This record gives sequence, C-alpha cells and structure tokens, in this order.
Amino acid sequence: MEIRTTDTALLDWTGDALAIGIFEEALELQGDLAKLDEKLVGIIKELIEETEFKGSPNTTVVVRVGSGSPIRKIILVGLGKQDNLSLDSLRLAAAAVTRTAKQQKVKTLGISLPQFNDQPAATVQVITEGILLTLHIDNRFKSDPEDKGAKLEQVDLLGFLGQEAAINKAEQICDGVILARELVAAPANAVTPITLAETAEEIASQYSLSLEVLEQEQCDNLGMGAFLGVAKASDLPPKFIHLTYKPEGTPSRKLAIVGKGLTFDSGGLNIKGAGSGIETMKMDMGGAAATLGAAKAIAQLQPNVEVHFISAATENMISGHAMHPGDILKASNGKTIEVNNTDAEGRLTLADALVFAEKLEVDAIVDLATLTGACVTALGNDIGGMWSADESLISQFKTAAEAAGEKLWQMPIEEKYFEGMKSPIADMKNAGPRPGGAITATLFLKQFVKETPWVHLDIAGPVWTDKDNGVNNAGATGFPVRTLVNWVLGEA
Ligand code: BES
Ligand code: MN
Ligand code: ZN
Repeated sequence: MEIRTTDTALLDWTGDALAIGIFEEALELQGDLAKLDEKLVGIIKELIEETEFKGSPNTTVVVRVGSGSPIRKIILVGLGKQDNLSLDSLRLAAAAVTRTAKQQKVKTLGISLPQFNDQPAATVQVITEGILLTLHIDNRFKSDPEDKGAKLEQVDLLGFLGQEAAINKAEQICDGVILARELVAAPANAVTPITLAETAEEIASQYSLSLEVLEQEQCDNLGMGAFLGVAKASDLPPKFIHLTYKPEGTPSRKLAIVGKGLTFDSGGLNIKGAGSGIETMKMDMGGAAATLGAAKAIAQLQPNVEVHFISAATENMISGHAMHPGDILKASNGKTIEVNNTDAEGRLTLADALVFAEKLEVDAIVDLATLTGACVTALGNDIGGMWSADESLISQFKTAAEAAGEKLWQMPIEEKYFEGMKSPIADMKNAGPRPGGAITATLFLKQFVKETPWVHLDIAGPVWTDKDNGVNNAGATGFPVRTLVNWVLGEA
C-alpha cells in the first residue's frame, strides 16, 4: 500500500473512490465540490438528501457513480463544525474513510480533506496515521486469514503535493504503534520475557541502538529484590531490558521511558478470581510494549535526545517457588516492602526499574503501566491516568497527548493516602485499601524516585479496546506510543 501526495484537482482525479470531507455548515455544495456535483449530474446533492447526511464527525455515506465515469464511488465523511476542526478530528476522519473504503473493497482511493490552520505537514501526518492505523489488522494467529479480497493499494492525498516527509514521519510512528499492538495482542505463550528481550535485540541491531539485558543473577547483584520477588514462580527467566538511543551529537536532553512488563499476571498466590479478567492479562506488558514501540519509532526519527528504554520483564505466576503473601522484599534502593497482596506486582517490578532509571542521571523519567483496575474504574477505557509533582512535565504530556489524539487526565498525588500503605513490620506494604487504589499505587512508586522529575501513566484502560474505536480496530491499541514520541520530539 502506498500513500502519495498530489495536486490533482477534485474534478480531475480518477480511481475507485474519492472521499471528500464535509463540514456541518457546508452541506450546500460550493466551489470545486459544486462543480464536481454538476459534472456527476447532481449525484452528491442527492446522496446528501437521501441519506440525510448532516456532516456529523466521522459519519460516512457512499454512492456508486454511473459506469463509464472515471470515479467509481464517492465517499462523503463528516467533519463536524468548522470551528472544531483539529488535527485529531482529521485523524479520525481519515480513519472513518479508510474503514468505509475497506468495506467497499476500494483499491485506489483519493482523499480530499481540509488543511488544519497553516500546517500542511501536521495535517498530512495525522491523515496518514489515521489511514495506516485503521488498515492494520492482526491476522498472525489465524490459520486462514478472513481478510481476503480487494486490498487498498494506493491512496492519493489531494492538495498536499510535496509533503512526502510528513508521510514518512507518520509511517515511522505507526511502525512503533503497530509493534506495540502486536506485542500486546500476542498471548503469553507467544510473548514472554525472553521474546521481549529478543524484540529489543532486533530493534537494537536494526537501528544501531545499544542494548543491555540483565539476567537474574545480575539483577540480584544490583539488589533488585522487589522485581525478583515477582519473578520467583515463573519457569521463564526474568529479563531486565535496557535499550539506549543516543543521537550523533551532544543530546539536548536525556530521558528515560520505563514500561511495566508483565507478560502474564495471574495475580500470584492472591490469584485472580472469576470475573477478574485473568484471561486478558497477556496485556499486562502494555507498558513494555509501548516502550519498545516508542524505541522503534524514535530510532527512525533520530531526534537530538538521548532516550533510555527500560523494562523489568517477567510473569506473575504461582508455584512452590512463589513469593508468599506476607513476604518481605528489599528493593534496590534498600527499602523494604511487605507483600500484603501478590497481585499488586507491577509496582514491585517498577520499583527496581525506577531506581535503575534514576541512576542514569536523566533529566526526566516517565513510567507507563497497566497498573490498576482502580484507574479503569475512575477514567474508563479511553483515558489514561497521569500523575506528576512536576507541573512542567504535566504540561509537556498534556500537549504531547493532545497532538497524538491519546487521552490522558491528570490525577492527584494525595500524600495523606500513603497512610494506607504503612506496614507494621516493613517500610511499606505493596497494596493499600480499595478506595483511591490508583493513587496509592502512585504513592508507592514515588518511594523509588528521589529527585528526578517523574511522571507516572496508568494505562490499564486504553491499551485495549473491545470494539473498533477511532483509529483503533478492536484489540490492542498501541497506547501511548504516539504521545511518547511527541514528548521526546518536543524535547529535541
Ligand atoms: N495488572 C493489574 C491491573 C489491571 C487490572 C490491568 C485490570 C488491566 C485491567 C495489576 O497488577 C493488579 O492486579 N492490580 C490490582 C492491585 C490491587 C491488588 C491493589 C488491582 O487493580 O486490582
Ligand atoms: Mn496484578
Ligand atoms: Zn499486573
């Protein structure tokens, strides 16, 4: 599939389907669109009337043009109110067009969407993202892929001649998003701590990044008792993955991205019960997946920023070797933890990963983790929770997420709630009471970051979607790779 730019006019484009964006206020056709309608003997006007098309965001209607025409079909896509146009509404419109084109078995598609402000490159980037992310279907585990028949072969972006660089950039970002999706969607018998380390190895060798994978013994030597406590019951070796991107010259900033990498979370001896969604817990490495996805994108985009990609990868299993509820673990910063719930395992692995990240003397750390069900209860499936004491980091992530079309919402760091994490026997417990569970999880992580500006993202909801949703098809979303990339590029 190829995406190209062209200056071919609406009236002159030829191919299977021409998709045209229409604002709610512009149902009375004007300019080139009125001329096209005239040329097609009023078929567009008729389509709008017959389908009662209102131009509502991301609605599409289709009509077949009479045979012998140089265009076989017209697709109209609603853009909502002109004043509400944004890069994300364009991304979503492109996704809606792509879904419709796929259903209509379109091979060659022309897309005519408006430019956002005076930003042709950003416009082309988001349209390309909308197309590529919607087209991606994961058939790896089907013996007989259903997705046969006509495939989209070529897309022309009308009116954007010369924006190839923006298409390229979008392709590199989508590469990362798709890698993250595929890692999350793969079951726990396909993606393990070993294969996660191998994926890091592939990225490292393909783009000349440096990679260090610490084995269990090395983690032990570093005192990573919290991470290794979680890993104890697994038959698979834990892997502490540290991938580094260094630009050619002196970097403007040094950053660390730390992802929770539980390739399966059974809950441990506090095993996940009926209705807990244990069968979905292959996605508990969504943080690590997005970390590696971001690495793949950033390695290609080559910003002038040093970035460390870190994940303490393991499984949370049960066996005679399992940590017991009540065990006391010592993390690599010397702090002791009473494990009152083995299902609060992500924070244990992150504790040692955060201590490791801070030793690298980076300017800022972000961690991303499918950390708590409480965050899903609070914000639902579309929105990730965001915590930081550093207002500048909060504003950087707000900007990065908005441009990415990925939703993050700032949550409070309520220090008082740490009372619920006090242990009579160790420095802290790993699980607090049910109320405010996403906040106490954050307060736990905070014990392992001393002074580096740090932001925590709880992505338990948005890493997965049960149905088609915007640019995501049902399944893994690759959240928040685009936000991470925007954040790193913003620091370049
Ligand atoms: N991986 C889960 C969190 C999760 C829940 C992710 C639902 C995605 C969907 C995490 O390890 C966990 O089990 N958290 C517990 C914490 C509790 C024991 C304090 C939870 O949220 O119930
Ligand atoms: Mn758990
Ligand atoms: Zn977990």
